[in-house]
Amino acid sequence: HFSSSLLSLLCSLFLFSVSALALSRDDFPPGFIFGAGASAYQVEGAAAEDGRKPSIWDPYCHAGYEIDHSDGDVAADQYHKYKEDIKLMHETGLDAYRFSIAWPRLIPDGRGEVNPKGLQYYNNFIDELISYGIQPHVTLYHFDLPLALQDEYDGLLSPKFIDDFTTYADVCFKEFGDRVKFWVTVNEPNVEPIGGYDQGFLPPQRCSYPFGVNCTGGNSTVEPYIVAHHLLLAHTSAANLYKEKYQEKQGGKIGITLLGWWYEPATEKPEDIAAARRMVDFHIGWLLHPLVYGTYPPVMRKNVGSRLPSLSEEDSRRVKGSFDFVGFNHYIVLYVQADMSQLENQVRDYMRDAAVKLSLVKMIDTSNTFLFNDAVPFATLKKGPLHKNVGDGIPETPWALQKMLEHIKVYYGNPPVMIHENGNAELVDPATAGRTYDDNDRIDFIEKYLEALRLSIRNGSNTQGYFVWSFIDTFEFQFGYTTRFGIYGVDFNTEEKTRYERKSARWYANLLSGNTLRK
Ligand code: NOJ
Repeated sequence: HFSSSLLSLLCSLFLFSVSALALSRDDFPPGFIFGAGASAYQVEGAAAEDGRKPSIWDPYCHAGYEIDHSDGDVAADQYHKYKEDIKLMHETGLDAYRFSIAWPRLIPDGRGEVNPKGLQYYNNFIDELISYGIQPHVTLYHFDLPLALQDEYDGLLSPKFIDDFTTYADVCFKEFGDRVKFWVTVNEPNVEPIGGYDQGFLPPQRCSYPFGVNCTGGNSTVEPYIVAHHLLLAHTSAANLYKEKYQEKQGGKIGITLLGWWYEPATEKPEDIAAARRMVDFHIGWLLHPLVYGTYPPVMRKNVGSRLPSLSEEDSRRVKGSFDFVGFNHYIVLYVQADMSQLENQVRDYMRDAAVKLSLVKMIDTSNTFLFNDAVPFATLKKGPLHKNVGDGIPETPWALQKMLEHIKVYYGNPPVMIHENGNAELVDPATAGRTYDDNDRIDFIEKYLEALRLSIRNGSNTQGYFVWSFIDTFEFQFGYTTRFGIYGVDFNTEEKTRYERKSARWYANLLSGNTLRK
């Protein structure tokens, strides 16, 4: 008796857990936006066509710094194939598509002349989306700074960037704002300062030895903070311009999108719990604290001291509240251990100021520790000993998304949120890779994160949209064509960059068409 009732209990638990995983769009609030996305340099190609001039990414790639020595010269050739892609978006049932405008295509020298062919391309792209009823969600700056501005005044290091960005944004609002109702000023302003100015693994590869791998000169002690400050002020200036000059007439919304990794204490020790909170403040709070409260996080002001640029009263007033929503790109959790000894270092940088050690796994063992300071790209670790039990993709920790959203709700006054990127990567050998179709890991990943999102929303999170990264395979910053995120594949070995459907695209289409999905 006991064993049979136990069995029936187990069965009902099992059934319950199966039905709990059934997911439908009705589980999300009315008006919730489902989309997918990519960014300009990662898919457009046509790098030297119709007046586009280089961004800082072109010479970086041409110098061979990508893992597979590739570049975005052709990428998925979306510049020529956008109609095909938008048709696929329509067939998938996307409510919205997130893409970025290439500043060096629209204003090739960064400032001055607008390129009529660039204007035409984005007008066509937006019109095509609208003709299928797909909302364009447009990012203005997704890492591809016009090279001219780098050469002329060191790009993001100069406050001149703020004015040039604002002028570029003004052109975009004026030309496209009648049809674009969702704007993102800057993508991941909490990544470029670290990758480009502390660790040196992104262009312009500035970093101080011994922090980085391919340093071209720089000063990690101060530059990451200066660059983030300029990105914050550039966002503020463009967002306030939109609010003052366009919003009433055009009726759109404007926000900023941060990398929203979650940081979890590696142990229960109070110092590690404090370290995880410090890391959240350093990484998310770096931008979000000023945006919500008008000041940098107290722990950053304390640890970074006078090296942290200060926000004048006027800046603080303008930064505070300069957004209608906050976007988050969420992929992984990192485990955090306190390392206060880093504060004693004579030469400090971002990670030393945060006084933490980060790891991809909970058990911190020095041989397996992933530190930003080692500049080890997370994707290269996936096949290593750390993740032998989770397959090739990104480890699934959907609870980390819930924790991140709970934090945003509790500490930042529950602003409207968009999950602007979430998805799983497949690692492939670009030379030999055949096409991949049965991406069950990706389906499982997206489903679990959507379930986590559903629970967060039920718990009061003000999340209003979810965008799969990516719609089609892309050129991946750092990893070239070795990492595939697309729910549609691109066969980069063919001249026509053939698109093909992966199982996850069918799965997503099914969800969006209103079906309930069971595993
Ligand atoms: C962050 C970036 O915004 C995007 O460009 C990149 O491809 C994905 N995350 C995946 O790494």
